[in-house]
This record gives sequence, C-alpha cells and structure tokens, in this order.
Amino acid sequence: MSGAIIVGASSGIGRALAQRLAESGYEVGLTARRQERLEALGRELPTKSYVARMDVTEHDRARKIFEALTAEMESVDLVVLSAGVAPGNTAADWEPDRETIETNISGFAALATKALTYFAEQGHGHLVGISSLSAHIGLPHAPAYSGSKAFVSNYLQALRGAEPVSEADISITTIEPGYVDTELSFGGFWECTPETAARQIERAITKQRTHAYVPRRWRLVAAAISALPESVTRSFVR
Ligand SMILES: NC(=O)c1ccc[n+]([C@@H]2O[C@H](COP(=O)([O-])OP(=O)(O)OC[C@H]3O[C@@H](n4cnc5c(N)ncnc54)[C@H](OP(=O)(O)O)[C@@H]3O)[C@@H](O)[C@H]2O)c1
Repeated sequence: MSGAIIVGASSGIGRALAQRLAESGYEVGLTARRQERLEALGRELPTKSYVARMDVTEHDRARKIFEALTAEMESVDLVVLSAGVAPGNTAADWEPDRETIETNISGFAALATKALTYFAEQGHGHLVGISSLSAHIGLPHAPAYSGSKAFVSNYLQALRGAEPVSEADISITTIEPGYVDTELSFGGFWECTPETAARQIERAITKQRTHAYVPRRWRLVAAAISALPESVTRSFVR
C-alpha cells in the first residue's frame, strides 16, 4: 500500500487532499499543530492514518517528528507540504512577516530537505509543494506571503535539478492555486472549494507534473502577469 505524509492536514487544502488520497487507497500521515483536528480527520478516513503534532516553525524538532513518522508508517512514497499562513499586513509590520517567513519559507525548506533526504535513501519518492499564484505578483496586503510563495516556486524548481533528485527516482511537483475557499483565503474571483483543489492536485500527482495551476484557468492570469508591466498589474491587486 502507498503512503503519504501531509504537512498542514488539519484544515483547508491539506485536509481535503488527505481525504482524497485516503479514498484512493493511500495510508496517510497527518501533521499540523491542531492535533485534535488531525485525530478527528483520521477517524473519518477509510485507510489507516497516523497523527503527529508538528509546528514547522520549530525547524529541527519538526524534522525529527517527520523522521519518526516515516519510521512508524509502512511506506512513504509521497510528501505534500501544504502548511502555510497568510496574515494580512498592509502596514509593513515585522511580526506578521516574521511568522510568514518562519512558516512558509524556513519551515517549508526544513521539511522539503528532510523529505528529499528520506526519498534519496529509499531510492524513490514524490515531493509536492503548495505554492500560490501570488508567487507571480507582489500583494501589497500580504508582502511576505507573496514573497514566500515566490521562494517556494523557485526553490522547488531549483531542487528538481539537485543531486539527490537526479540520482534517484524522485519527482517534485509545484502547485500554484488561485483562490481556494479556506480559513487562509483572501477571497476573490474564481474561488474554488478545497475539494476541487484537492481533486486537481491529485491529478497533477498521478500524472507526475512538475507544475500545475489550480484550477487550471489561472495559467491565463499568470501569463498576463508576466506579459504586462508592473504599473498595470499593480492596479489588479490594490
Ligand atoms: N486558500 C487559498 O486561497 C490559497 C491560495 C494559494 C495557495 N494556498 C496555499 O495552500 C496551503 C494550504 O492553505 P489553506 O488555504 O488550506 O489554508 P488553511 O486551511 O489555513 O490551512 C493551513 C494549514 O497549515 C497548517 N499550519 C499553519 N502554520 C503551521 C505551523 N507553524 N506548523 C504546522 N502546520 C501549520 C495549519 O494547521 P494548524 O493551524 O493546525 O497548525 C493548516 O493545516 C498554504 O500553503 C497556502 O499558502 C492557499
């Protein structure tokens, strides 16, 4: 049986993806800070689940918890990094930016490198990182958030060429969602449900895509952002 660890499984996209993967037969390792939510989710799933409380901002501790979880599970073929925060910050304050950087950048990199080390040792695996369409455009109401997602997308692209990836059977998929109706969402046009996002993410995983917009129509917006000058695109995001 295949196994997947989802970091950030207590709500939103990570939770919906855990349900979807379990319905497809995966055993799932569920991690986040809200343990009671993970345990409630685990009881709903049709396959065996494993719960590990993890705060990705405690980087070294989170890496140890990840390692213990891989040892407990029968197999881990897939790791999805969905944990993220997006506090609004229109006043360019430090505290919301610090939280965002420690979670979405340092926390992400701490777990991505740990997952790749694990996959390199076992000779195969699939790492999926949830970035955002905002990787393509600086959001004035969430500067560290959009900056963090630019990091995630570029980081994953770079890791696809890293030694452990080219020397073993390892895939890396970057997911860039538009608006998804979750606790974190800024809300906006074309907002989809977490279940729709999870369905499209599972398809991207199955097809071993390097990159997917979710929903797919957001590729048009990404293309427009890269083609237009900042003076024009800034008026979209005020
Ligand atoms: N919703 C959108 O419109 C949208 C659009 C583009 C990209 N995304 C990305 O999608 C991913 C999932 O977000 P979502 O929309 O599903 O929001 P969500 O419902 O708020 O889920 C965020 C998840 O991250 C976990 N998390 C946050 N801080 C954590 C920490 N320090 N340690 C461990 N886990 C932590 C949360 O669990 P706990 O609080 O229990 O720890 C929760 O499970 C994020 O990376 C987000 O940036 C979302």
